[in-house]
Amino acid sequence: MIFQNELINWYKINKRDLPWRHTQDAYVIWLSEIILQQTRVEQGLPYFNKFLENFPAVADFAAANESKVLKLWQGLGYYSRGRNMHATAQIVMNNFGGVFPTRHDDLIKLKGIGEYTAAAISSFSSGEARAVVDGNVFRVLARYFGIRTAINSPAGKKEFFTLANELLYRPDPALYNQSIMEFGAIQCKPKSPNCAVCSLIQTCYAYQHKEVNALPVKIGK
Ligand code: ADE
Repeated sequence: MIFQNELINWYKINKRDLPWRHTQDAYVIWLSEIILQQTRVEQGLPYFNKFLENFPAVADFAAANESKVLKLWQGLGYYSRGRNMHATAQIVMNNFGGVFPTRHDDLIKLKGIGEYTAAAISSFSSGEARAVVDGNVFRVLARYFGIRTAINSPAGKKEFFTLANELLYRPDPALYNQSIMEFGAIQCKPKSPNCAVCSLIQTCYAYQHKEVNALPVKIGK
């Protein structure tokens, strides 16, 4: 458990104070996760606040005109995200009695929610034991464990997904998921990470073998 404990300790000291980390409301977490799917935190933050002000609950979102949703979305790009959100809000009203689902198996069936987002919402809202695997997680695992399988190959996806779920810190899946994503986002960065100030270097394969810049491997790159 060295890896998990080090990550969680690092997170407690270094995490950014972000509003969606103060709630277990699946609707609010869903808003943040969809906005952040293709958008950086600094850019997404004002949109998150704006959406929450205009639509404090999923019922408000569902009742809005799609044109209003798309207008609020302006500047974020990938408008299908806004359309999918509107459709999903209405399904939550019609099929889930207006209560945003927290179970992975329910979430994965909703429009715009894939494996990553279902794991994020279910773990953050209810502590369900589902590992998040996003670009940050691929990079952290590839470097720390020295995995050379391409992250965008079918074999790589399977290998990283399996490892991520084995590593998942069962006593607190939400805390662990936030920790590994945040570590990838602000410490184990894609380019020139500052390994000199990293608390995991003693046990990091890539650092010890001077392969930090060679990992993760991506095919077609
Ligand atoms: N990007 C996607 N989900 C995030 C989260 N919960 N915190 C920070 N960045 C994220």
